[in-house]
Amino acid sequence: MKRRDFIRSASIGSSLLLNGGLSFLTQSCQHSMDMDASRSYTAVVEGDFNTAFQLPLQSSAKNSNLSPQYITTQIFRNKNTQALGYTNMFLGPTLRANNGESVAIRLTNQLSEETNIHWHGLIIPPIMDGHPKNIIPPGGSFNYQFTISQRAGTYWYHPHPHGTTGSQVYRGLAGFFIVNDAEEIALNLPAGNYEIPFLIQDKRLAMDSSLRYSPTMSDTMTGYLGDTVMVNGLSAPYMNIESRWYRLRVLNGSNARLYNLAFSNNAGFYVIGSDGGLLQTPERVNSILLAPGERADLLIDFTNYTTGTELFLLSNVFSNGGVQGEQSFKICKFNVVNSVTDNFTLPSTLSTITRMLPDSSIRTRNFDIGNMMNGNHGSHATGGSSSPMHTINNKIYSMDRIDETVRAGETEVWEFDNSKGDEIHPMHIHGLQFQVLGRTGGRGIITPIEKGWKDTVLCMPGEKVKVILTFPYSQGTFVLHCHNLEHSDDGMMLNYTIQ
Ligand code: C2O
Ligand code: CU
Ligand code: CU
Repeated sequence: MKRRDFIRSASIGSSLLLNGGLSFLTQSCQHSMDMDASRSYTAVVEGDFNTAFQLPLQSSAKNSNLSPQYITTQIFRNKNTQALGYTNMFLGPTLRANNGESVAIRLTNQLSEETNIHWHGLIIPPIMDGHPKNIIPPGGSFNYQFTISQRAGTYWYHPHPHGTTGSQVYRGLAGFFIVNDAEEIALNLPAGNYEIPFLIQDKRLAMDSSLRYSPTMSDTMTGYLGDTVMVNGLSAPYMNIESRWYRLRVLNGSNARLYNLAFSNNAGFYVIGSDGGLLQTPERVNSILLAPGERADLLIDFTNYTTGTELFLLSNVFSNGGVQGEQSFKICKFNVVNSVTDNFTLPSTLSTITRMLPDSSIRTRNFDIGNMMNGNHGSHATGGSSSPMHTINNKIYSMDRIDETVRAGETEVWEFDNSKGDEIHPMHIHGLQFQVLGRTGGRGIITPIEKGWKDTVLCMPGEKVKVILTFPYSQGTFVLHCHNLEHSDDGMMLNYTIQ
């Protein structure tokens, strides 16, 4: 089977869908697949935007307890939905810590399956990072203890057991981990009710009203797309706002869906931070493409809006994204309900980003992410497909194989080559933050959200993306993988060891 044929039939499916507006299974695929002969594509169905926006609960990371458990929630209107939570609520609390603080977080696994926690974006020792080897059995517990030693930023946490990460994140295991520091506080950015963790995910309700996760082979290709877009676990929310500046810490915590974020009136807004904290200067944009795993710290100037104004944050169509890019849909409604005076002025400088120079790299490693396998390739965990297709350097993930060996303190260039590929791959490296050096093919540029520190970089079909990274003094094994969770569960992941 050729990927292109798959994408093509997916496109046909989605244009039918846009006319019909319902989820459906298309006719069986004409290609000779040994797996399932049908494919599904889930287009977004917009809600009515009359559910009040909510913030996730917030707690200090210092001494917290996270207990993955089965919950019943009403995230789909009037329906009791079986899902997962880190407490007795859907998703996980927003944890906060200051740079320099030591935290202790106790995981108690109340599920009947293995889990663990990965602290996405945090620079911590391998043993605390939630490597898929380090899993906690049902009934087991583990104390994650580490010291925060990195810049303020919007980080997050989620499970990382191999083969079931997609399933567990999808069903509700994800939360913010926000780090603050003195530099950021000195900027006096909008805070409190005006600083909003904003987790975007797409879900679909299964026949039995659960968030049952059952990817077909085609879901494994495109990723598990939902028909309902949720913010902090609520579909189609509205937010009552004042005429002032707001800070949105946006996290795309979807398994596979990209969002091309923009406002319905096409108003400009400012990117002030990305995965690894503040940019050097605010970047004014009208839209940003945000891939699974990525964060965008945004400032939005609502000061000129009069009371009664309504506008939407939406996802616009985008090119080169296959079925995903073809639909535009609303995500959240903003109602201006109060006129206030806001003395905030946008800082012209936010932070200092010391550019890493290609000269400091002692080696370039190439990662071919544009090739797929077909057929059976040995044993595989419990991911979407029993014959894995997604590879890095033509390899399917193997838990105990070391794929790359690097040295602590050394700097390298890593190149993710999707030039021959036709799928979307947001590539994520554990254990560090990197900088994007350049992109050839496709969009051909470094985007505004890529001008600071990153841990996840979007490689669209046809693109080759170069990043530069220095390995921490933290010996042991980390993973790198595609953050389309269907792809990584399918085997699109490698181990690298720091010596
Ligand atoms: Cu957010 Cu290895 O993942
Ligand atoms: Cu991570
Ligand atoms: Cu991928």
